[in-house]
Amino acid sequence: MSRTPTAPDVLVIGGGVIGLVTAWRAAQRGMRVTLADPDPGGGAARVAAGMLAAVTELHYGEQALLALNLDSARRYPAFAAELEEASGTPTGYRRCGTLAVALDADDRAHLRELHDLQLRSGLDSAWLSGRECRRLEPMLAPGVRGGLRVDGDHQVDPRLLASALLTACRRGGVEFRREWARELTVSGDRAAGALLADGSRVSADQVVLAGGSLSGRLAGVPRDVLPPVRPVKGQVLRLTVPPAFAPFLSRTVRAVVRGSQVYLVPRESGELVVGATSEELGWDTTVTAGGVYELLRDAHELVPGITELPLVETRAGLRPGSPDNAPLLGRTALPGLLLATGHYRNGVLLTPVTGEVLAEVLAGGEPPATARPFSPRRFSRQEVPA
Ligand code: GLY
Repeated sequence: MSRTPTAPDVLVIGGGVIGLVTAWRAAQRGMRVTLADPDPGGGAARVAAGMLAAVTELHYGEQALLALNLDSARRYPAFAAELEEASGTPTGYRRCGTLAVALDADDRAHLRELHDLQLRSGLDSAWLSGRECRRLEPMLAPGVRGGLRVDGDHQVDPRLLASALLTACRRGGVEFRREWARELTVSGDRAAGALLADGSRVSADQVVLAGGSLSGRLAGVPRDVLPPVRPVKGQVLRLTVPPAFAPFLSRTVRAVVRGSQVYLVPRESGELVVGATSEELGWDTTVTAGGVYELLRDAHELVPGITELPLVETRAGLRPGSPDNAPLLGRTALPGLLLATGHYRNGVLLTPVTGEVLAEVLAGGEPPATARPFSPRRFSRQEVPA
């Protein structure tokens, strides 16, 4: 395919926080970058609560993902400061810590096991009695039986983050095409750009597919390279803490209630985010009475005073789930095509490290050690030499 002199070096498909951070970091390294998305700054981050929960969302068998999550969490302070400087806007990064609590004997046993796993993994986490939990957060229900205090699990405001990334990309010279990418262009044996929904083509030396849960649907991507991502629906509520009720909560409070995760994330602005359901319902993003009811019921068991607060927004988003709950980062078996998708529950947390990994690989380097287990090639049925 012949390229015009103004053709970009990199085409990023998808303008959620992952696509934006990739575009920003690549542009900072001097690459000419075009990003295609009808609504850049949208995507799952518009719904997400923004917990940076490397420690409180630890799961058995996910040690490699823990290392990546911790790597990204460690990058957050400098990343947020640099992004705020580049964009001139806040990100809402807040070092507030997290308290994971237990409401009954089963929850308590589960939390004790999580605590053991955290300590065996060398993480900072302190066991508190119910009384100590309530001393930290007086709005907690009297029935709280104990909890884990994790001072290192912070939060960011994903809407502010997306908006800051958008501005930083614009200031950094990223060109935006407000269109869906309809089909990957493959020329010879390599990715060479994309056909957009308006019928125009963008040619580029390298293409990054960062379309969140939609990444597995791009036409033209060879079957063995197509990322195995699926949408996992999450319903999320937003409430407001009126000044008369403040301080309502001073840190993120979370629990597993009847087997479902519930978390309350308080922002300095007075917003209180309550999430989230986890539903395998394809592309459905309906907010249901049942979803809202269950979130409010579970949140009310943790913090009874929540029923006094104005409910200002209900929304559903789609997490990009992958077969091992971990992201796909870097080169695929198709030369010129890279992936940055499959971040599942950790997209906001993994934004800083994803930007670094993708920019390094786009520049011809190798991913850092923490990202190597997350090569997209782990899902390829057939290796094609790069
Ligand atoms: N990380 C929180 C969620 O995906 O619900």
